[in-house]
Amino acid sequence: VRTHPSFDDHEHVSIYRDPKTGVEAIVAIHDTTLGPALGGCRMWSYPSRHEALDDVLRLSRGMTYKNALAGLPHGGGKAVIVADPRTDKSEALFEAFGDHVETLGGRYITAEDVGISDADMEIVARRTGHVRGIRATGLGDPSPYTAWGVFCGIRAAVRHRFRRASLEGLTVAVQGLGHVGGRLAALLHADGARLIVADIDTDRVAEVAARCGADVAPVDRIHAADADLFAPCALGGGLNAATIPEIRAKVVCGAANNQLRTPGDAAALVARDILYAPDYLVNAGGVISIAPERPGMTADEMKERIARIDSTLSFVLKRADAEGVSPAVIADRVAEERIFEAARRKSA
Ligand code: NAI
Repeated sequence: VRTHPSFDDHEHVSIYRDPKTGVEAIVAIHDTTLGPALGGCRMWSYPSRHEALDDVLRLSRGMTYKNALAGLPHGGGKAVIVADPRTDKSEALFEAFGDHVETLGGRYITAEDVGISDADMEIVARRTGHVRGIRATGLGDPSPYTAWGVFCGIRAAVRHRFRRASLEGLTVAVQGLGHVGGRLAALLHADGARLIVADIDTDRVAEVAARCGADVAPVDRIHAADADLFAPCALGGGLNAATIPEIRAKVVCGAANNQLRTPGDAAALVARDILYAPDYLVNAGGVISIAPERPGMTADEMKERIARIDSTLSFVLKRADAEGVSPAVIADRVAEERIFEAARRKSA
């Protein structure tokens, strides 16, 4: 672990091996300046421990930035369980993971992520109270809140770019119609947008096309659709050297994590005069919903809290224009400033 290039900027990394199954879990705590590290646990059959480490270190650092920009009293952390979610799940495994989280004394708070279900996290919660996002501790499934946050981001971007207060008369291309994209499509439709959609799942495409009167694009051409706004809500890496020259939209704002394949892709979007809303800023509705600042917040109160994504993005976009750099650069800077300021106050 210590030889890993990303290890140095982490506060804590631990590897736990379940003696019964031999399964390994890695917990990475990147930074707790703003509070206990909050970030999901992913279950994935990584080909090697090195690749699992790469992922958990990258993801935990990402959570530090996301939580800081969302204004949450949480630092960044993440866990991975190196196992196949289709075949390797057992109660003993999740209880052992819960025991490991409990040994960290609350410095790391876990939640669901790829490969982990609500039922799995309920088992983890038998052994540790440091679990969020399950029905027992809050509002349940974060996806509707993520979709709402992205919608708030889209409204802010549209105001900034097109000087319009609603989506009426604008066309949005939505890539991916899953838990988040499907709900986002409904919100956009209700606000008057015309939709062009794509998904590899043809049933989902047919359902959204019927419900929202959307046009359908081929999955490999949705980024190039004749739209005002492009909302990537499928996988990461969709903004890259091949797709950016073909994008016709003037705004990119969507839920997918890690949309930029390389940091240079942010500059390529600026060069094409395409407004890019930083993914981790606008998709923070889910993490905000699992970390209620007050117990017992209702769904409506939570939506109001998440709507602050609108003002955060407006601030980032104005500063990006003033400084002539990508909003992605400014988002990172604002997150870092919040952490440095908190560290300064702590040491004062
Ligand atoms: P999901 O798995 O429910 O939906 C993804 C959809 O994308 C599926 O319908 C899938 O068929 C489709 N898809 C996959 N490859 C595609 C392709 N090449 N072209 C078009 N469609 C394709 O996932 P979910 O929960 O909706 O998340 C979407 C994105 O948002 C992911 O990148 C996720 O990491 C990110 N995200 C989700 C959050 C949540 O609360 N669910 C929170 C923050 C980020």
